[in-house]
Amino acid sequence: MLRTIESLGDLAGKRVLVRCDLNVPLDGTTITDDGRIRASLETLNELIHAGARVAVISHLGRPAGVPDSQYSLAPVAQRLSELLGKPVVFASDTVGASARSAVSELANGDIAILENLRFNAGETAKPDAERREFATMLAELGDCFVSDGFGVVHRKQASVFELAELLPSAAGRLIESELGVLERLTTKPEKPYSVVLGGSKVSDKLGVIEHLLPRVSSLLIGGGMMFTFLAAQGHPVGASLLESDQLDAVRGYLADAERLGVDLLVPSDVVVASSFAADADHEVRDASAIEETAWGASGIGLDIGPVTVDRFAAIIRDSSTVFWNGPMGVFEFPEFANGTRAIAEALTHVDGLTVVGGGDSASAVRTLGFADSSFGHISTGGGASLEFLEGKQLPGLEVLGWQ
Ligand code: 3PG
Repeated sequence: MLRTIESLGDLAGKRVLVRCDLNVPLDGTTITDDGRIRASLETLNELIHAGARVAVISHLGRPAGVPDSQYSLAPVAQRLSELLGKPVVFASDTVGASARSAVSELANGDIAILENLRFNAGETAKPDAERREFATMLAELGDCFVSDGFGVVHRKQASVFELAELLPSAAGRLIESELGVLERLTTKPEKPYSVVLGGSKVSDKLGVIEHLLPRVSSLLIGGGMMFTFLAAQGHPVGASLLESDQLDAVRGYLADAERLGVDLLVPSDVVVASSFAADADHEVRDASAIEETAWGASGIGLDIGPVTVDRFAAIIRDSSTVFWNGPMGVFEFPEFANGTRAIAEALTHVDGLTVVGGGDSASAVRTLGFADSSFGHISTGGGASLEFLEGKQLPGLEVLGWQ
């Protein structure tokens, strides 16, 4: 059974380390989507009100195990302070002098955030002993540990796994609520159940496709990964994204879907552009004719086309359960955002459970102006929610008693 905050007893005066996933998208030092910070507030406010001395730890990006100012959590500390409406002390290191003094000076109900965990090689080290050594240094800063970074529970990293073994530990409210919703997708989801997968990499989604095929009514494929499906069906894809080493796996999925009677839908039309640029010339083409524009084999598909949009939207609207992970096109370029916008719009009309999973899809729907409340649930986990749906054992959950 998942251990929750109650299992930690009275927290007044206790130093509580809280692992959040504050890995937010940044443009320089500007946070472009603060969804993951907002999602952390419930647990943090609860601990503050309980009189705990709260020390938040998180990673940001993928620095190489040494300090790198472009990945500093300083902008996150400032935004967290605005959202909490109280000062947040920022420590300029994770387990050094700054962190130790920041934590030791906290009064009951105060909060600090320590610098990026991944500025320390031990956080993501492969050898268990190195991770354990770093986790031991972290553990010295707390009396107990609340793990609430749902987006990172699939990683066996020091602050996710070993730290939870070293201190009395429990899941925070975000992890509890994420599991509550995602479990509804794995245990008897109401049918028709549609899954929409996009984003750039088929290889990241192989496991989930395999696991979901026998469970869903329809699997809709868009985004960069659609071109590997189109190529597997024998269509030339020009300069579009293609993972040639996945073609056999994809052919296998197409055959499995037919055998299982699942609608595995690949786009029938595509927005083809002259180059990968926001202002590139572009035309809609049948998915079998991507190379038939004036740009020939240098044409590049950047979005699903309007016929596909209508077909996908109709299936989504008629579903009782929908899980969506991954944008349908290069939504960051307004000319190529139509597919992603239309899928988001269709989700808002579903009479049933809709779940948007993943950092990219979550920031896509917010960037395109949709309110979080338009969807049943926006998961803070990208890889984590996919691995959960794959039915994998996630180290950061197992260590908290979840089976
Ligand atoms: C994410 O963005 O999915 C999480 O923060 C995990 O980040 P990672 O893929 O760099 O481990």
